[in-house]
Amino acid sequence: MQIMTLTINGTDVTAEVDERTLLLEFIRDVAGFTGTHNGCLEARCGCCSVEVDGDIVKSCNVLALQVAGRSVTTVEGLAPQRVAPLEHITTQSLAGMYRPLDALGAQDEDLHPLQAAFHKCHALQCGFCTPGMLMVLKDYLEDNPEPSRDDVRKAIAGNICRCTGYQHIVDAAMEAAQVMHPVTAPASDG
Ligand code: FES
Ligand code: FES
Repeated sequence: MQIMTLTINGTDVTAEVDERTLLLEFIRDVAGFTGTHNGCLEARCGCCSVEVDGDIVKSCNVLALQVAGRSVTTVEGLAPQRVAPLEHITTQSLAGMYRPLDALGAQDEDLHPLQAAFHKCHALQCGFCTPGMLMVLKDYLEDNPEPSRDDVRKAIAGNICRCTGYQHIVDAAMEAAQVMHPVTAPASDG
């Protein structure tokens, strides 16, 4: 067992972990960020995708100790107002700590543009794949301001959705790209 710290959505989380503890287990079972889902544990479905220092990883495929000291963003970090206070985290699971969005009076404009676009375009059904889709698309769209629909499909090739047929997910990504990278009008001469 070893003591390690991860910064998750801006909060330091310190815990004693086994050498075999997965990053996914640290995020869900130690820190209580249960928005990151376990769909296969075999690096196939993409449900567990998170950012580590700005790069997307499948957190079921990384040991927690491999990323000790680094900064992780999960789906909860996309809409920070949804995250419950975490000051007292030590080694306990805080599953269930998150307040429902409605209870906070949050609106679409409080969400990340991708979350709002998923809502608007009906891009989820059961929602199990959605956290991974959101994280992968956020990472992709930040670097690719004008994707084609084919580009978006390639970007989510490592993420499996069992419900939607992907059409509305691509719709949402195209919509979010416009919000994240608005076309700026050329400056007028005077
Ligand atoms: S749970 Fe990690 S890829 Fe499926
Ligand atoms: S919405 Fe159900 S798995 Fe994607």
